[in-house]
Amino acid sequence: MVSGFSKKTKAEKMIWISQQFHNPKEALQVLNTYNHSDKTLQTLHDEFIENALTNFYMPLGIAPNFNINGTTLTIPMAIEESSVVAAASNAAKFWSAKGGFKAQTLGTEKVGHVHFMYHGDPIKLQRFFEKQKDVLLASTEAITQNMRSRGGGITALTLVDKRDAISGYYQLDVRFETLDAMGANFINSCLEQLAKTLRELAGQYAEFSEIEKDIEIVMSILSNYVPNCLVKASVSCPVDELLATPEDSRLFAEKFVQAIRIADAEPYRAVTHNKGIMNGIDAVVIASGNDFRAVAAGVHAFAAMSGQYRSLSKAEIKDDVFHFSLTIPLAVGTVGGLTKLHPLVRWCHELMGTPNAKELMHIIAVAGLAQNFAAVKSLVTTGIQQGHMKMHLLNILNQMGATENEKQTVVEHFKYNTVSHHAVVEVLEKLRAS
Ligand code: MEV
Repeated sequence: MVSGFSKKTKAEKMIWISQQFHNPKEALQVLNTYNHSDKTLQTLHDEFIENALTNFYMPLGIAPNFNINGTTLTIPMAIEESSVVAAASNAAKFWSAKGGFKAQTLGTEKVGHVHFMYHGDPIKLQRFFEKQKDVLLASTEAITQNMRSRGGGITALTLVDKRDAISGYYQLDVRFETLDAMGANFINSCLEQLAKTLRELAGQYAEFSEIEKDIEIVMSILSNYVPNCLVKASVSCPVDELLATPEDSRLFAEKFVQAIRIADAEPYRAVTHNKGIMNGIDAVVIASGNDFRAVAAGVHAFAAMSGQYRSLSKAEIKDDVFHFSLTIPLAVGTVGGLTKLHPLVRWCHELMGTPNAKELMHIIAVAGLAQNFAAVKSLVTTGIQQGHMKMHLLNILNQMGATENEKQTVVEHFKYNTVSHHAVVEVLEKLRAS
């Protein structure tokens, strides 16, 4: 046990933790290596979280040639997995020759709740709520003023009886429009104010008995499940134009649609299928400085909305046209949070043409659809290992400390041979021995 750890300076923390390692000097060296030499930048990073010791780097790649609603765009992707950026780039190029991606925002509503317990007459509670609704809303005016002046704010406030789920459980269900902000802080501030006012008003409400006056606020928090903050990305083209020949194209389109049906019907496949979609989504969500945990939680809940976990994407062939689309809930922001604070995040926003929140939703959904298209295309044709292992080859070579010359020779060899970890080790060892 260590006491007062958070009070130690960063240097003291680094030394203390390094001493827990077999080789403290080496452990400290690793931490130092990843600390940035630019002191101002490092301090900025250190202040994002508590007990920061160093930086955990993630590669930032770019996928060019995305045509989204007629505009050509390069998408930044922060991801550690090989093949993902290459797959996105290939899908971008493939679809830019076929009219590009279409994207539309289907809704922007955010949601939050005051969860509370009330053990009394439900009709009295409803009457109380209707009488006090304006007062409740008015109590948030100082918080919502800025947002309202820009056209956002609280869009709905309702009382929800949840006693079917838990005895005495009710909610204030609050809907929000947060414009270009993800809005978590704004929403939570509004909810905490509503909770406070609710309790105060109930305490003074003459028609309530003493027990009824004692509303118990359990918690006030936004929901990361945002099924009305939706974006749809899609592509389509005549079936016969999908691949080089109409025969290949038709076979491909049919297998592709089958693959999507399987992902819709079979949760084991749906999870991996949607993981491929998240490869694209998370990479852009991270690069844009947004909260990928919130996005992932909401997206997966949406995938299970029917009561079964299903594919997030849909594909069909209709009148000889291949249609492929992805609809997902996405609560992301282009102002606030890390978006202006983190220099590389700012750079990524500029790369994407400084999008507003709706445009960023379009870009993220398109990245997810592109990723899914590339994965399923590989799966129903060559299989994913062929491309994947070639990309993985460099990782293996790097792990083995291969020189640039060795890399070139080994990569050349595997243009004509199947990549496996064992085969790469063997070829490199032979090369070194010769
Ligand atoms: C790997 O990161 C993602 C895939 O497994 C997705 C899929 O199976 O659709 C290739």
